[in-house]
Amino acid sequence: MSMTEPRSTDAAAHSAPSSTSLKVTLPTLQEKKRCHVPISALTAYDFAMARLVDEASVDLVLVGDSLGMVMLGYESTLPVTMEEMLLCTRAVRRGVRRALLAADMPYASYHEDASQGVRNALRFVKEAGAEAVKVEGGRNRVELVARLTDAEIPVIGHLGLTPQSLHRMGGYRVQGKTVPAAEQLVEDALALEAAGTALLVLEGVPREVAARITEELSIPTIGIGAGPECDGQILVLHDLLNLSFAPAAKFVRRYGDAASLIRNAVEAYRKDVETRSFPSDAESYHLSAEARGNFVRGGAARAAVAPATIRQPRKA
Ligand code: KIV
Repeated sequence: MSMTEPRSTDAAAHSAPSSTSLKVTLPTLQEKKRCHVPISALTAYDFAMARLVDEASVDLVLVGDSLGMVMLGYESTLPVTMEEMLLCTRAVRRGVRRALLAADMPYASYHEDASQGVRNALRFVKEAGAEAVKVEGGRNRVELVARLTDAEIPVIGHLGLTPQSLHRMGGYRVQGKTVPAAEQLVEDALALEAAGTALLVLEGVPREVAARITEELSIPTIGIGAGPECDGQILVLHDLLNLSFAPAAKFVRRYGDAASLIRNAVEAYRKDVETRSFPSDAESYHLSAEARGNFVRGGAARAAVAPATIRQPRKA
């Protein structure tokens, strides 16, 4: 058990600077699009990271199913379960105050039919505190989007390189590279918007295609590997921090090297333990001077009377 000082839970201790302290809502993001103010988004999967991302005033925090790969070590996002997503979303919920919090619906949680999707999406809102859910797909998700919207669950769409379509795509490939494929993406985007989608993630699509979709839609687009014209950008936090143990994709910019930071810190700790330089006297608890005297005298007296009995094994 950690004996670290209890966390402060009051609002003042976890509030962003005043200019960025207002709670982000969907209308906030809509307004950002209208005013051409870029939207920042990142993934988070646990309390500590969520809190740091939120304190940095990122607008949208997504509990992505990418957690399957970067947190759980799966080969793809396909094995991720509802229970894994709910557990992480609850942890992130406890760390996020300001940002809009969205959760990814994992593979097979909405693929049977729209009713299954609504049932599972409701769990994200009721049991984990999500403010929106994200689903992958285009025109084939129109009924689901309409049903979720009808159930008061804001929906984030996801088009282009959709990792849950890994097998159909035959790998993680940029999508919409031919004119017909690009036109299909535009049609998908328009259909999702018409069905009630609140935001649209565009992943792994040519910049020109994302730019046209962003222009044609009135809802904000959030790009990842989709160029700078999107209304906002999202990255997987672990990619940004060099914690994903994979070569960075073209669109990833590394903003820090948490892997080196953690490796160096852990190695320094191990060396200090091995050389007995940790813990120091200052890092140890102490008896009061009076108790110490009595304790040391008592031990010495017991050792003088019956040294062996002290170490007698207890009878069962
Ligand atoms: O799962 C995820 O992290 C995502 C984002 C990359 C958009 O879907």
